[in-house]
Amino acid sequence: MRISPEFLAELRYRNRIDEVVSGYVNLKRSGSTLKGLCPFHNEKTPSFTVYPENGSYYCFGCQNGGDVITFIRNAENLDYIEAVKWLADRSGLQMPQEGYDDSAERLRRTIYEINREAARYFHQCLLSEAGRAGLAYLKQRQLHMQTIRHFGLGFAPNSWTGLCDYLKTKGFREADMVLANVAGKGRNGGVYDRFRNKVMFPIIDLRGNVIAFGGRKLPGEDGAKYINTNDTPVYKKSKNLYALNFAKNAKSDALILCEGYMDVIALHQAGFTNAIAALGTSFTEDQAMLISRYAKELILTLDADEAGQRATARAIGILNKTGLQIRVLQVPDGKDPDEFIKSHGAEQFKMLLEGAKNDIEFRLLKIKNSCDMATDAGKLQYLDEGVKMLAGVDDEIAVNLYAGRIAQECGVDKQVLLLRIREHKRKIQGASRRRQLREAVSRPQFNDQVNPQERKFKRAAAAEQTIIAVLMRNAELLQQVKQQLSPEDFVTPFYSRVYDAVVQVLESGRPFDLTALSGQFAPEEMGRIVLLQNKSQVYQNAAAELQDCINVLKSEKAKMTFIQPEQMDDAQWAAAMQDIGKQKKNRGAV
Ligand code: UTP
Ligand code: MN
Repeated sequence: MRISPEFLAELRYRNRIDEVVSGYVNLKRSGSTLKGLCPFHNEKTPSFTVYPENGSYYCFGCQNGGDVITFIRNAENLDYIEAVKWLADRSGLQMPQEGYDDSAERLRRTIYEINREAARYFHQCLLSEAGRAGLAYLKQRQLHMQTIRHFGLGFAPNSWTGLCDYLKTKGFREADMVLANVAGKGRNGGVYDRFRNKVMFPIIDLRGNVIAFGGRKLPGEDGAKYINTNDTPVYKKSKNLYALNFAKNAKSDALILCEGYMDVIALHQAGFTNAIAALGTSFTEDQAMLISRYAKELILTLDADEAGQRATARAIGILNKTGLQIRVLQVPDGKDPDEFIKSHGAEQFKMLLEGAKNDIEFRLLKIKNSCDMATDAGKLQYLDEGVKMLAGVDDEIAVNLYAGRIAQECGVDKQVLLLRIREHKRKIQGASRRRQLREAVSRPQFNDQVNPQERKFKRAAAAEQTIIAVLMRNAELLQQVKQQLSPEDFVTPFYSRVYDAVVQVLESGRPFDLTALSGQFAPEEMGRIVLLQNKSQVYQNAAAELQDCINVLKSEKAKMTFIQPEQMDDAQWAAAMQDIGKQKKNRGAV
């Protein structure tokens, strides 16, 4: 797992953090740092910061941070070696040949190859005698051959080992077929095809790899309509979108999100090549973030049934946090887009698309439909729920417009409505602020995954932090620390590891550099290390500051390792309790 420091230095030099991050985040200069909206959580005001001077980044909203390698690990969902490789490719560097463990990457590559071969096999079957029923079905669904080829559709024949046998002739191991989830493990130890007698839809990622499959049963067969690939080392269904590989190239600022594979394919065939679908899950935040990278606007066209309506409302909630413009297209007569295009044609669908309501209109209409507008009670209900809904909308102009519309519909004064909306907005804001405050206060103390001991041993941990931070800046003080402290003298395990790693870097005679650490620490740990690095201020007298902290740490450690409570005599116990009382008072005074 070791990559030479020289290679890492070159990698870091060629991949400046601000340039790499700019591929994902719109950065604006702010003094010596750059700021933007965090790509790892939803936010409306930038708390994502890049520090070009030391090659780090940190998000004050979600605590994600690290060096350029950590950034790519998080942004591209890669492990350490893959991220190094990604950056090497980006900057035309040749990866060092040996000396690192690439077993995880090899497995992933094998799974990609298995999937590609499987897709090829299914496609050939579709065009052969074994796939006759499948091809007939796709033709009956009015797909052209060109569409079938474009999407790489296929057919899994009605056989228990057709694919497995084929993959064996290509030299793949049974265990890897199971890991790719195209095969299951039989009770007798052998493997069998997971997809049998199914029309096959390969799912392709943005780099063109086949990452998974959906398999649809033929009409008249029993069982679930679709079976899909479960999550594998190369596939997480909650993080992917069907056909985004094609849709991202469509010449449009908008994407159309529909419900199923068949809707997407029918839309593409009809010329709407910006259609995508979530993959048999309810819509996720990750998918929303992904969409916002490729589009300015999203048009939702989920099924017209009640479940579809609920899914639409839920998706709007998630999408609203991304800053995407949202519109909702409701296909009339309870049809899905695929059926609608078949019976009315592409032109008519285009008109639906143009008339799609924005998300506020959509929600307002839903409220209105649930109220009996012929009665005063119904109107009051519409007013009440309308006010509550508009209070959650940020766009002032939109609020004004729709308040006017409701006012007119109910025959009341618009100004009164606007006043009510503002009141309600304050109420919501207050509640949300109180919640955020509660979370912020409790988060670092109660939920510290990286260094759980920090909360318990505050004084020691604070000293440890300063020792490490000073060392990062002042390599010449290494001997002073090393003569007095070894990693075992640290109280909290995480800082002990960081100290050890920093010492190793400095001992090699190189200045401290974050990239030297990112191979040994998990991405969430890197965030904490960046915090330490950026905390290292210039001390008047760094050596003295350091010595103070070493002394504190030593005395804290001595206290800890002293005597267990049950072995103390009465005097010792009283002294210990008094000590705790003093500490509490000190803390209270701060
Ligand atoms: P639909 O039932 O709307 O499927 O489910 P569809 O794609 O329109 O297929 P046709 O037109 O009936 O042939 C929407 C999506 O939900 C997932 C699939 O991703 C499907 O495309 N799904 C549905 C499953 O994963 N499993 C199921 O059993 C059903
Ligand atoms: Mn359908």
